[in-house]
Amino acid sequence: MAKALSSNDLVVLGLETSCDDTAAAIVRRGGDGRCDILSNEVWTDHDDHAAFGGVVPEIAARSHVERLDATIEKAIANAGMAFDDIDAIAATAGPGLVGGVMVGLTTGKAISITHKKPLIAINHLEGHALSARMTEPADFPYLLLLISGGHTQLILVEALGQYQRLGATIDDAAGEAFDKTAKLLGLAQPGGPAIEKAAAIGDARKYDFPEPLKKRDGCDFSFSGLKTAVREAVHGLKDPGSQDVADLAASFQYAAARHLVQRTDRAMDKVHNKDSGMRLVVAGGVAANREIKSTLNSLCELKNWVLLAPPVKYCTDNGAMIAWAGAERLAAGMTEPQADILMMAPRARWPLAPPLEGQEIGGGRKGPKA
Ligand code: KG4
Ligand code: ZN
Repeated sequence: MAKALSSNDLVVLGLETSCDDTAAAIVRRGGDGRCDILSNEVWTDHDDHAAFGGVVPEIAARSHVERLDATIEKAIANAGMAFDDIDAIAATAGPGLVGGVMVGLTTGKAISITHKKPLIAINHLEGHALSARMTEPADFPYLLLLISGGHTQLILVEALGQYQRLGATIDDAAGEAFDKTAKLLGLAQPGGPAIEKAAAIGDARKYDFPEPLKKRDGCDFSFSGLKTAVREAVHGLKDPGSQDVADLAASFQYAAARHLVQRTDRAMDKVHNKDSGMRLVVAGGVAANREIKSTLNSLCELKNWVLLAPPVKYCTDNGAMIAWAGAERLAAGMTEPQADILMMAPRARWPLAPPLEGQEIGGGRKGPKA
């Protein structure tokens, strides 16, 4: 059962449908800024997409339509609440697969109008950016390394709604690179966990994959060259066995972790200690990777910074982080006029932060990964 509410408590229902996870959660923000996650329901069926080797937008959108209502009901029931107990609804409005975003946002509008509760449109990246504050002592400011299936960015989080981008991927996102490399190696999707598992028995020094963007200054990332290097190594083998796959996975994971950590090291040097609080937060699905987390941890120990990483279930896409971003915005009075909610549009692209002065925006074939 939910705890008794104090008058300063804010209870928010969060909806997340921007990729293949159908998620709903109830989060309570206390007047002191403390977070209680009262329920966190995530429905993912990777088998729906497995035959296609990646997330199929049309299948994802249809499955959100089929599953979102039941997921919301479960989130409310598991929190021991009713719609009347909720102060607001927060729904991801982008960036993401637009069909899925549309399902979550439209459902949020319907609940908002029916139950006369405010609706807060949340940038999915802000959800990830603030996620550590649910469980960790992540006071503003901090440096954020956001590594997920759709995004790879280094962001200076100065305050709620104040973000500066220090670097971003110029081609694939880190998670996308894990997924594509797993596909090349004949491993299951999503590729991140499959690569991490295979790598556990592999030799990370067997293949010396090239360091991405070696000659480029700054904090941008690139993963497509690494993927090509793995492809060439696979083609160079006559009949790759399971030990070859493990060695390739371990060498790829090592190279990806080294690249992420090098760029993070540069970003740490770029921001003044007082501007960052000497706190590094890592978030997004790839933050579940133990090799990456432990390499980041060594870097932080060396530089006397604190590494904060939310539990894995709040690193991958979830409704709690969207509810929490909504609760933080509601508490700060940073919400949009409710008369405009029908005008809130789902957005495939929605950059969270402008680049720092003098900083290039990474742009790949499809433009900046924002
Ligand atoms: O944050 P997330 O759930 O969804 C996006 O917003 O993209 O991240 C999903 C990504 C996938 O690419 C998946 O392969 C990757 O996170 N991932 C991992 C691990 N667990 C999930 N990557 C590396 N190692 C892991 N253990
Ligand atoms: Zn995400």
